[in-house]
Amino acid sequence: MKLSVVGCGRLGAPYAASLAQIGHEVMGVDTDPAQLAALKDGRAPFDEPGLDDLIAGLSRDGLLRFSHAGYDALDHADIVFVCVPTPQQTDSEEADLTALTAAVLDLAGQATRDTLIIAKSSVPVGTCAALDREIQERVQPGVRVTLGFSPDFLRESTSVADAAKPTRIILGVPDKDDRVERTLRAVWQPWLDMGVPLVVTNRATAELAKSAANAFLATKISYINAMAALCEKTGADITTLATSLAHDPRIGPAMLAPGAGFGGSCIPKDIRALYAKAAQLGVPEGRLFRQVDAINCRRRRRTVELTRQQAGGTLTGSRITVWGAAFKPGTDDLRDSPALAIALDLVAEGAHVVVHDPMALPHITAHHPQLTTAEDPLRAAAGAQILLHLTEWPQYRSINPADVAAVMDTPRIIDARTVLDRTAWEAAGFHHLALGTQTTTN
Ligand code: UGA
Repeated sequence: MKLSVVGCGRLGAPYAASLAQIGHEVMGVDTDPAQLAALKDGRAPFDEPGLDDLIAGLSRDGLLRFSHAGYDALDHADIVFVCVPTPQQTDSEEADLTALTAAVLDLAGQATRDTLIIAKSSVPVGTCAALDREIQERVQPGVRVTLGFSPDFLRESTSVADAAKPTRIILGVPDKDDRVERTLRAVWQPWLDMGVPLVVTNRATAELAKSAANAFLATKISYINAMAALCEKTGADITTLATSLAHDPRIGPAMLAPGAGFGGSCIPKDIRALYAKAAQLGVPEGRLFRQVDAINCRRRRRTVELTRQQAGGTLTGSRITVWGAAFKPGTDDLRDSPALAIALDLVAEGAHVVVHDPMALPHITAHHPQLTTAEDPLRAAAGAQILLHLTEWPQYRSINPADVAAVMDTPRIIDARTVLDRTAWEAAGFHHLALGTQTTTN
């Protein structure tokens, strides 16, 4: 089938590629000149494992093409998926729907034949119903434009594999419209044949299905971090506690890693949009999500507090090394990164901070000149008084602590992801602290 995808960023590019991979002819549209130039050249516009090769191959096979113009999307197909960003507003906790509204209304106004628009960007509940009213004011006479909603659950750094075999497909359709489901079943048939579950519902439920998933994951992380705070005061050990919880099949091990908390461009803004929406709707239960966010932010402050204590009460003039800057391993993405926020707070308190990250250093150099960067973790540690392990890249676990001790001014480490081998670091002479363990000074 012929399909179009408007917005080819971190959601749209892997999604467009996955549709082409299951045999459709896909037209991707993006207005960002740099992003579009890379895509037209058959390359991924950002670092994402496997995406470059996939886009190159599908472009060569003629299954994936790109353009800057919405009318090309409409000309190519009468099913258009919209994957534009819906970030947090700069001056509030609400989602900024400017790009989504513009994309959907432009498509609706330009359509010259019946068209199905499927929004995929995360949105607050009620967005599609509100957009629908505006769509109907724009459509050309005799043309029917239908808006559905189908969220995605791709994770950065594994989005190619996630898109190739979704955990589930959720489809929100306007009331009493079976046509949309029939059409999309045909689009997604290869995934349905693989056993991917399809949930068809109304648009409000589909919108909430995405917010609810991210809020649940965030709640699990803040839950284990609340436990970590209790462990620090009581002599309990958070890693063993998390393992004991994970053995219960009703709880499971996922999203129970304690530490400096969640970040990224999705979970933090989605949880804020959710509690902002709950407040607008007069739903006091939404305060749960505000607490989840507050516990998460507190973990960042706790890491800074610990570092200050270790520096003797003030950070002014101290030399600190930070291992890891990206919001999680496997990506160069610094958006709402706990590691970056902590590093910048340390600088604001007068520390000299040297950062190592396997992928994100070019972005640090370009956007955060107050941080010094080092291409090698050992060089980053040279002369430092405290080493902070903030993003749990696997390569940090294989570094010999004795080599680090040899180059540091004082062998002190704070493991804010609680994954390094305490015994090995202590054996190398380190004073070792980890979030969620009693040796953490209070
Ligand atoms: C998240 C969701 O996992 C996806 O399902 C969703 O599609 C996506 O947001 C989105 O809305 O687009 P992602 O932002 O790639 O995906 O990040 P995750 O892998 O979920 O990690 C989020 C943050 O939580 C990271 O900062 C990570 O370090 C932190 N985390 C994760 C923990 O602190 N503890 C854990 O146990 C797991």
